[in-house]
Amino acid sequence: MGAGSRNLVWMDIRERKNILVTCGPGLKDYLIAELEELGFEIVSSHTGGVVTRGSFVDCMKLSLHLRTAYSVLYLLKEFRCGNSETLYKQVNALPWENIIDAEEYLCVLSRVDTYSINNSMYPSLKVKDAIVDRIHKKTGSRPDSGSDRNKAVVNLFWKKDKAWIYLNTSGLKLSDRNYRKMPFKAPLRESLAAGIVMATGYDGGQDIVLPMCGSGTLAIEAALIAMKKAPAGLRSNFGFMHFKVFDEQAWQRMRNDARKAVVKGRLKKRIIATDIDEEAIAAAKQNAKTAGVEHLIEFKVCDFAQTEVPEGGGIVIVNPEYGLRLGELDELEKEYKRLGDFFKQKCAGYSCYIFTGNKKLGGKVGLKTSAKMIFFNGKIECRLLKYEIYDGTRRFGG
Ligand SMILES: C[S@@+](CC[C@H](N)C(=O)[O-])C[C@H]1O[C@@H](n2cnc3c(N)ncnc32)[C@H](O)[C@@H]1O
Repeated sequence: MGAGSRNLVWMDIRERKNILVTCGPGLKDYLIAELEELGFEIVSSHTGGVVTRGSFVDCMKLSLHLRTAYSVLYLLKEFRCGNSETLYKQVNALPWENIIDAEEYLCVLSRVDTYSINNSMYPSLKVKDAIVDRIHKKTGSRPDSGSDRNKAVVNLFWKKDKAWIYLNTSGLKLSDRNYRKMPFKAPLRESLAAGIVMATGYDGGQDIVLPMCGSGTLAIEAALIAMKKAPAGLRSNFGFMHFKVFDEQAWQRMRNDARKAVVKGRLKKRIIATDIDEEAIAAAKQNAKTAGVEHLIEFKVCDFAQTEVPEGGGIVIVNPEYGLRLGELDELEKEYKRLGDFFKQKCAGYSCYIFTGNKKLGGKVGLKTSAKMIFFNGKIECRLLKYEIYDGTRRFGG
């Protein structure tokens, strides 16, 4: 990334353009809420993402602050495209020599849904050639390219006869927060865990209890939310750093502002995370330490039914195994039934949630759900089941 080449920059990074923010299925509504809270307009939305408007610098801000997003993509060009020759010409016409340094490494990601081409490898190659050939013609050297998305990343979307070219300002997915060095078993993706916590309405103003915490993802995301800490604050590498238009000063200001906004000291409410497995708690503690939130979470090794639940109400979230990847179904049926008993007996005044990918097991809890929210864990359709446990339940012998 040539700092000296900034004068040559063709692209006005303050220009407001469409920004496509991608997310996992089921997370769109939470992403919209986050964008609105950050003051961004919603142009349109679909299952896999939300379109807003802003500058390249806004993309940097979004990459730092969004909890439920995968990638923040800055639109460079949209055009009619009936075949791969047009694709090459249109992409090659952009002044890439002012966007990507010849010393950079380039990765092209494509999603293609058009009549003439049925795999995305070939269009990716065409776009890569168009960019690299242009840079070679103008500078005499060409960037390396490949599938690593930790440097300069360009995205192509090609649907029927329309194509869009974006600068991927996030690079590696934003769900890679860099704190989970010890994954333990079946960890949730961080962006999904954040969406689940957001779906419960948690904002740090309630006690939150997380039995079966595994590697601690839900607890850590809850702590980051309570502290108002930028989820990507630990990352030192983003896609936007690998484009010539990167404004380092604006980035440093943004990071400092984010650091100043963090709630210092202890929280007024408690975050309690437990797991029956010592190794899980060791991993969760280490991950929380890396995320800088270890001091905010009370960890304990115990069966979920022994978890301390503070008086006064709050939120409980449990992500038990659900049999598709781990655990045996018969055993799990008993565990789900025990979870229902735990809610009734120990969680009066709490909104309790179970995140599961198995509908049938959800039915074994033996309590009436007050809401069901659909998410996807990878390709598995999952539900966040809500049980409202009223204060009277405990007194009247639930
Ligand atoms: C699906 S994993 C949770 C993954 C977690 N959400 C994460 O992101 O890492 C389920 C966890 O439940 C724990 N577990 C299973 N049976 C338990 C029990 N009876 N009491 C407490 N924890 C239990 C397992 O040790 C495992 O860590």
